[in-house]
Amino acid sequence: MKYNFDKIINRKNTNCYKWDTTKEDVLPMWVADMDFEVAPKIIDSIIKKAQHGVFGYTMIPKEYYEAEIYWWKKKYNFEIKKEWIEPTTGVIPSLSSIIQTFCESGDKILIQSPVYHYFNISIENNNCEVLNNNLIYENNNYKIDFEDFENKIRNNKVKLFILSNPHNPVGRVWNKNELKKMGELCLKYNVLVISDEIHRDLVYKNYCYTPFASISEEFLQNSITCTSASKTFNIAGLKASNIIVANKNLRVKLNKVLNRNEIKSLNIFGIDSLTTAYLHCEDWLDELLIYLEKNKDYLIDYIKKEIPELEVVKPEATYLLWIDISKLNISSTKLANKLENIGKIRIISGGTFGKNGDNFIRINIACPLKTLKDGLNRLKNGINQIKTLEN
Ligand SMILES: Cc1ncc(COP(=O)(O)O)c(C=O)c1O
Repeated sequence: MKYNFDKIINRKNTNCYKWDTTKEDVLPMWVADMDFEVAPKIIDSIIKKAQHGVFGYTMIPKEYYEAEIYWWKKKYNFEIKKEWIEPTTGVIPSLSSIIQTFCESGDKILIQSPVYHYFNISIENNNCEVLNNNLIYENNNYKIDFEDFENKIRNNKVKLFILSNPHNPVGRVWNKNELKKMGELCLKYNVLVISDEIHRDLVYKNYCYTPFASISEEFLQNSITCTSASKTFNIAGLKASNIIVANKNLRVKLNKVLNRNEIKSLNIFGIDSLTTAYLHCEDWLDELLIYLEKNKDYLIDYIKKEIPELEVVKPEATYLLWIDISKLNISSTKLANKLENIGKIRIISGGTFGKNGDNFIRINIACPLKTLKDGLNRLKNGINQIKTLEN
């Protein structure tokens, strides 16, 4: 391996959201960023920019757009045009602006729980109503309830459907058939699809991610895709992401709100980092995926042998593993609290992602193997002590 993902980097006392909001003796495995050092070429690009010494207002150069276009084509054989790209400071601010553009107060927006909780927050912050097409958990995996999907959008005048593709937290990579079925129902009932594809690059062996908008011209025209290099290359703090909107009518409307919300001014270092990541760091990602695959296999094996009451939901994508805790007969919120206080490990309760997430916890495995091993031992000891206390 060219890159050292075993390297332990102390993130404490760096204003790190993951580590510095967690008690000193607790191991944080919750928020979705990685404990790995970023690709050296990204660091070099930041140093180069820093050495220039002047950080005034900046423009987005053509290389930035070329990098986004290159990545889509190279990795996913999807050809996009420069004018479809709307750079923004993040996916969540983008979602918020999209909701403000296409919905009025009280409008209904469909999501698929359990799902990334900021979908909910963003919808409610913008005075819209969340409608849930709950995912079905069966045989240690998740599937879509298409009957409910159609009923919900037919009976509720749904305006938008926010898709997580691949899905955080359940780890599904929706296959082409599933995407087609959802997309066709949305076309049939005139529902605009917002596809959040921030986790697109973090897919495990034997699974294949399909960009929703690449499926057909109709899907392309009836969708808005949100992406970022932040999850893939661990640069969430640099604040650069892109919205892909091929449909000109939608783009013109959205642009006004993006401007009004002032989220089109990207961070000077974020611009160079995204460009460098997509143009020059694919080999780093290839090695990261090998490392994550090993961490994932290690966790699955450990849990099978050492904590058999838990069951790992089959992971297809993301470094966030979703674990079934139902055999413990304890709510995920209670378990998360106890794990933090007794086990000294901080994970996220599944209930955070919707009521039907309550029998699960989410754990972040994007860390050196040594840290993961420590976390798993804490998880095991914590659960053993909690079981003794509960009985
Ligand atoms: C599905 C999904 N969308 C968006 C985000 C956050 O994106 P950003 O930091 O660009 O706002 C996350 C972070 O975990 C996520 O999982």
